[in-house]
Amino acid sequence: MKIFLAGATGALGRQLVPRLVERGHEVTGMTRSESKRQLVQELGGRPVVADALDPESVADAVARAEPEVIVHQLTAIPHALDMRHFARDFAQTNRLRTEGTDHLLAAARAVGVRRFVAQSYAPAVFARVGGPVKTEQDPVDANPPSAIRTTLEAIVHLERAVTGATWTEGVVLRYGGFYGPGTNVSFGPEGTMVEAVRKRKLPLVGDAGGVWSFIHIEDAAEATVSAIEGRGRGVYNVVDDEPAAVAEWLPAAAAAWGGSAPRRVPRWLGRLFAGEFATVMMTEARGASNAKAKRELGWAPRYASWREGFATGMK
Ligand SMILES: NC(=O)c1ccc[n+]([C@@H]2O[C@H](COP(=O)([O-])OP(=O)(O)OC[C@H]3O[C@@H](n4cnc5c(N)ncnc54)[C@H](OP(=O)(O)O)[C@@H]3O)[C@@H](O)[C@H]2O)c1
Repeated sequence: MKIFLAGATGALGRQLVPRLVERGHEVTGMTRSESKRQLVQELGGRPVVADALDPESVADAVARAEPEVIVHQLTAIPHALDMRHFARDFAQTNRLRTEGTDHLLAAARAVGVRRFVAQSYAPAVFARVGGPVKTEQDPVDANPPSAIRTTLEAIVHLERAVTGATWTEGVVLRYGGFYGPGTNVSFGPEGTMVEAVRKRKLPLVGDAGGVWSFIHIEDAAEATVSAIEGRGRGVYNVVDDEPAAVAEWLPAAAAAWGGSAPRRVPRWLGRLFAGEFATVMMTEARGASNAKAKRELGWAPRYASWREGFATGMK
């Protein structure tokens, strides 16, 4: 198949292009910079330079590629993400999820794209009520912490636009927190989060009862291949089999990565130093179930649990 990948050079794109090429697909990989053409080529794709926020350049790039499937993996998360300035640090990613999505969908419609697969983010989405593990049927958080409000609005915009496009098969993949090679803003081997865990700078806040869902970057790429090649449509949680409370995964991560046991701080202190959103993630977040993705995409994560992934899948 001819596939157009927006975000070919990102953490997931770099995993995805070689997998798709290996399976016989023809991949056009979009990047903003001339200097990254070579990277796309080395991955096995055909580079195209276009700015996702410029509708004409997107329309032109898509029209020339004539894809059957478009994959949207655009983000712009700063490498030193500051949880206290979350809204500022996510402003560009929010634009990519609103305007960028709209431009890609318009370009897709113009050439009659059959399938449109887009990235979403499970940990930020769910209403913090009821049980600890959520399915795709569960409600989106209608009352998020203020720092994440615009980010969640952008995610909801993307999800509604993609699944509401009746002229194509719209698929939204709500990935868990990435870890593994190239995921340095989240839990990459050389990333700030792993360093913070090792140096006891990431404490257990309050009861540390927030539930997180992770996914190894290679498993996320495999699920994306299944979604690209499959027929199902709608929203899928792409997470591992073991959603876990911070009180459980953080000490285990510290042990796996050569750090000492994390400190404990009360909720008010967490709020003071890390802000409301980080505190909510530590104490109230809900995890996600991958049952639908397993059932309908015929996919299962190789790293079924972050326990083995944190220990053996970081390089
Ligand atoms: N689920 C999760 O936990 C999750 C999800 C997403 C990201 N992250 C983390 O965030 C960090 C950064 O991720 P990443 O490396 O994939 O993101 P990134 O380096 O920001 O790359 C994202 C992709 O979007 C493209 N892009 C951004 N703005 C664009 C624009 N205006 N026009 C065209 N293309 C544009 C980039 O292309 P060019 O730079 O080549 O132009 C790149 O291919 C990583 O640590 C990752 O793990 C985590």
